[in-house]
Amino acid sequence: MTETERIQELRTELHQHNYNYYVLNQPTISDQDFDKMMHELQDLEAKYPELYDPNSPTQRVGSDLNNEFETVVHKRPMLSLANTYNKEEVKDFYNRVKEGLHGAPFQICCELKFDGLSISLHYEHGQLVKAVTRGDGIQGDDVTSNVRTIRSIPLQLAKEMDYPDEFEIRGEVLMPWSSFDQLNKQREDDEEPLFANPRNAASGTLKSKVSSTVAQRGLDAYLYYLLGDNIPDDGHYENLQKAHEWGFQISKNIRLVNSLQGIYDYIDYWDQERKNLPVATDGVVLKVNSLAQQRSLGMTAKSPRWAIAYKFQAEQAETILRQVVYQIGRTGAVTPVANMDPVQLAGTQVRRATLHNADVMQKLHLHVGDHVLVEKGGEIIPKIIDNLTENSNPKHLINFVANCPVCRTPLVRYEGETSHYCPNETGCPPLILGRIEHFISRKAMNINSLGFETVDDFFQRGLIHDAADLYELTEEQLLTSEGGGQINAKNILQSIQESKDVPFERVLYAIGIRFVGEIAAKTIARNLGSMEAVANVTLDKLLEISGIGTIIAQSIIHYFKDPINQRFVQRLQKYGLQMKLSETELSSHSDRLAGKSIVISGVFAHHSRDEYKALIEKHNGKNVGSISGKTSFILAGENMGPAKLEKAQKLGVPILSEDEFLKMIE
Ligand code: IVH
Repeated sequence: MTETERIQELRTELHQHNYNYYVLNQPTISDQDFDKMMHELQDLEAKYPELYDPNSPTQRVGSDLNNEFETVVHKRPMLSLANTYNKEEVKDFYNRVKEGLHGAPFQICCELKFDGLSISLHYEHGQLVKAVTRGDGIQGDDVTSNVRTIRSIPLQLAKEMDYPDEFEIRGEVLMPWSSFDQLNKQREDDEEPLFANPRNAASGTLKSKVSSTVAQRGLDAYLYYLLGDNIPDDGHYENLQKAHEWGFQISKNIRLVNSLQGIYDYIDYWDQERKNLPVATDGVVLKVNSLAQQRSLGMTAKSPRWAIAYKFQAEQAETILRQVVYQIGRTGAVTPVANMDPVQLAGTQVRRATLHNADVMQKLHLHVGDHVLVEKGGEIIPKIIDNLTENSNPKHLINFVANCPVCRTPLVRYEGETSHYCPNETGCPPLILGRIEHFISRKAMNINSLGFETVDDFFQRGLIHDAADLYELTEEQLLTSEGGGQINAKNILQSIQESKDVPFERVLYAIGIRFVGEIAAKTIARNLGSMEAVANVTLDKLLEISGIGTIIAQSIIHYFKDPINQRFVQRLQKYGLQMKLSETELSSHSDRLAGKSIVISGVFAHHSRDEYKALIEKHNGKNVGSISGKTSFILAGENMGPAKLEKAQKLGVPILSEDEFLKMIE
């Protein structure tokens, strides 16, 4: 067997193993053997770049190139379904179908309504060629490279199967509860805002600009609608079973029924049982099974007459409001929380519910003793959705607090935000603690031997008052703290010591200037070079930096005006943290590509794609995913795709070879 043949063989086998594992849940080889084959394929593909295939199993890991999604028009519009919350309307639907079919017998296919985001997948000759989000139903985003990382979506179907040359299959991309919980836990550690529910998480992930991020987030997909000119069967259900044979993940919980009672039974069963599913569902979908009957029923302007979605009622309960308390988060955001008489809801006892913010609270017009309706829907935290008491004593109306519940500073509401914030960043304990936690977090100073709990403990016991105090901690102090053994104390001191080598851009991020995230910190560090320059910069100078807007710029100026912050930064400098870009960073960076949008395409001889991407960034250029009139040039290797080439020529975008590019940045 030649190496070229071996590549083909490995690809075919790995596709099959992938299907066995992710779709059938029946792996036939060990993880190690799978990895071994994958590595062999990776090595061979590196040796034969001309055999690059976007659907190779090796492409599942995604890339860190920046996707800019192209908008594409759907071949067939993606309609939505009529929704109902009550069985009476299900009956009406059933009777309308019966009438529409003039008494001919019919079957209804009952399915779960998955709560993710819909996706349209296009296959040609068994190859995944395009994946598009629903968008507005007429056009959506081309998210193919992200979708390729979802393991349960086949990139290539087995050769001998009887699928049509061209077809479309639609379904739902979801984030299983397990991945969702894990993701939110990670985000909590990284101090990033949490996703409210798996749908938002799936949607945010699928639209991520970096496909390697998608690959790590554990998305899944269920397919539920086959379309095209040569569909195998007249039955929708039967087609889905075929699609399963071809390699698609289809829900095992689809049922064909012959009566209205059958539909009700399905609904009742899943209303309870759905709590045990690994993914979120929010209802059932009912579809007339025969495609011929579907055609004869046709469509209304918005949705098909042959299908309807029945949505499960979010569980609700009535109880009495006793008090509203205010929680302040580490960012200073203040959230009103209701304390209520305990009530049983969705399997748990609930006595607290969020009221979100001042606007929501005002609308509910709450008084102590009011009867309120609590709901636990797709979100994790229960909420009050209605006030059932009409004539309460206006004297007891509960108004949103004006001052910080902890430090009494008057709260502020920033433009465009729904929350009120305590602005006392350097004086209010939860905010100070938030700043210290941010300082030690992984993407900032990465003092990983110090957990948030330990920091809380040090803070409560007065060992530290701000993050700079960490650098003055002694072994004796640590030994007297809880959970402190000698080894632990040594570890903590060592990782505090090591943080002194963390590069300047991360120090700038770590000091906690509001609105200055990792990327802004990097940009500012590269442009200004040192903490001193940042501390003394003018607003105008900041606004000249590409990527820095008014909000960030003003926040920086504001930060360095505060004597407490000035003193804090001076102390960090005294303890030896990196306060300017290192020599190597300075010399390897330039502005040679400033303002340039560059597309990378093809296979390269001298550096990998990722290395070229890093080079572009170092020289202040921007790497973009697709060619447009704004593209400055294309960095082209071998085998640049013909479509790209044509587009570049049409738009008059220059094409640079690897050597030309390297010369340019030398
Ligand atoms: S069928 C024309 N089946 O619910 C029929 N949709 O408004 C198209 N959904 O946008 C959809 N589970 O995102 C269908 N088993 C299922 C579904 C399902 C979830 C979503 C889909 C669609 C929305 C209906």
